[in-house]
Formats: sequence, C-alpha cells, structure tokens
Amino acid sequence: MPTPLGVVTGASSGIGLELARQFAAHDIEVVLVAEDAAVHTAAEGLPRAHAVQLDLTRPEAVDELVRRVVEIGEPTALAINAGTAIGGAFVHDTSMADQLAGVDLNVRSAVQLAKALLPGMVDRGHGRVLFTSSVISVTPGPYQAVYNASKAFLKTFAGAIRTELKDTGVTVTTLMPGPTDTNFFAQADMLTTRLATSVPKDDPAKVAAQAFEAMMSGRARVIGGSPLNRLAYLSALLVPDRVMSGLHTWLSKPRPTA
Ligand SMILES: NC(=O)c1ccc[n+]([C@@H]2O[C@H](COP(=O)([O-])OP(=O)(O)OC[C@H]3O[C@@H](n4cnc5c(N)ncnc54)[C@H](OP(=O)(O)O)[C@@H]3O)[C@@H](O)[C@H]2O)c1
Repeated sequence: MPTPLGVVTGASSGIGLELARQFAAHDIEVVLVAEDAAVHTAAEGLPRAHAVQLDLTRPEAVDELVRRVVEIGEPTALAINAGTAIGGAFVHDTSMADQLAGVDLNVRSAVQLAKALLPGMVDRGHGRVLFTSSVISVTPGPYQAVYNASKAFLKTFAGAIRTELKDTGVTVTTLMPGPTDTNFFAQADMLTTRLATSVPKDDPAKVAAQAFEAMMSGRARVIGGSPLNRLAYLSALLVPDRVMSGLHTWLSKPRPTA
C-alpha cells in the first residue's frame, strides 16, 4: 500500500477546506490547492499539509500542479472539488470571459487533472477519486446555466470513469451537495437570489465528512448534507424539466436590491 497522500482542489474555503481537514484528521498528508493566497493560511493550520496557489482555469497551471504533486509524492486520493458559478442571465448579465473561465475551471481542469493523475493510480493499483458535482446536476439551471451544465458534465464523467476503472483498485465517487454554507453564493454574485437568502444551508464540515467517508469507502456517489437534498435530487429525476426550470428560476433569478 503506497504512503497516503491526498490532493484537494478548491481547498482554501468551504467544502474543500473541510475535505482537507478530513485528510489531516485521518493522519493523511494533504496538498491544498486554490487560486488566492488564503490557501497558505489554510494549510498552515493543518499538520503535514502543503499549499499550492494556482489559477486552475489555466491549462499550464494544471500542468504545474501535477508537477508539484508528483514532487511531494504519489497521490492516493484526489478530490477534484474547485468550482465556481456565474450568477445571472446568460445572454444579458454575464461576460463571455467569465462564462468560459467557469468552463475552464469546472470542466476542463477536472478532465486535465484526472487525465494526468489517474494513470499513476491505476498503475499502482490503488486510488480514491472524488468529483464535486451537485444535486442540481440533473436540473436545467436558468440564471446559472453554464454552472448546472458543468455539474452535469462532472456527474456523467465521474460515473463513466468509475465504470471503466472497475477492478483496478481505483474508485471514483461523485459528491452531490445541496445548498451549503460557503463563499459560493457571494463569489457567484448570487446574494440577492432566494437560493442565497431563503434556503437553509448545510454545514460544509458535515458535507465534507460524508464525502470523505464515501470516497474512502469507494462508494459511487454521496448526496451531501441534509436528507432533504436526497429528496430534492430524486424529485428532479421525476419532475419534468420545464417544471424544474421554473423552480430554478424562482430560486436563482437575481432580485433588485432595496
Ligand atoms: N456551496 C454550495 O451550495 C454548493 C452546492 C453544490 C456544489 N458545490 C460545489 O462545491 C465545490 C466547492 O465550493 P464551495 O461551496 O466550498 O465554495 P467556496 O467556499 O467558494 O470554495 C471554492 C474553492 O474553489 C477555489 N477556486 C475558485 N476559483 C479557482 C481557480 N481559478 N483556481 C483554483 N481554485 C479556485 C476557491 O479558492 P480561491 O478563493 O482561492 O479562488 C475555493 O477554495 C464547488 O465545485 C461547488 O460547485 C457547492
């Protein structure tokens, strides 16, 4: 069994920071990755933790991350968690640059990192991989259209690789959180939405603990947070898209500030 080493992207705050804390609490060396300098402070608070500050929207930064990880050791667990949303109407309220940066982070960097690090895990016959998708991965997402589409991508991508890697010793788990109390809504400029103001939020520490347990047990998926998230996810599978789109609009459409 290789020496345990975890890697968590989006580890400076929210679910990712709590995932990194899970690794540390289980005495596993961990690499924390995020864009801003706060990742250094986050890593300083944990034993045997390394901070890597990179903007993962850039392909060359993902290459650099892979180099830095391999210098530290052979990863046994990889949580591909960094993700952002861009709130607002696709045509009128958002820029091309912001939308494409969302695709670059949520989708392209996830594929690039998996493509670079999973072959080594397979060669070594051991690995635990987690992708952070969302309960909204099965719902069209008016006012965060690209975000929901990116989470749908991650859900099917993770499920596909999981099947391909059956019997290799490498497992792939999809994390589907519901609304969680993190920087997500502020970062997405969604603070005026009902989703931000009026929907109960889960504790990211609870979501991360559930995710860590599922990942290390090799489970296919985990719906994070409260049992209501499971209900919301299962309902979305049954309810027609036009109904879910209407509900999503009600929750996610920006509202005028007073
Ligand atoms: N909160 C929710 O309600 C919710 C629900 C379902 C799914 N999720 C998913 O959960 C994951 C974690 O989000 P969160 O809720 O924990 O939000 P968060 O607290 O805002 O965390 C996002 C993390 O991603 C990092 N990040 C953002 N842009 C980056 C970039 N260009 N390069 C590298 N790192 C970058 C951030 O670091 P910097 O601050 O340094 O940029 C931060 O560490 C995301 O994939 C999100 O889509 C969240």
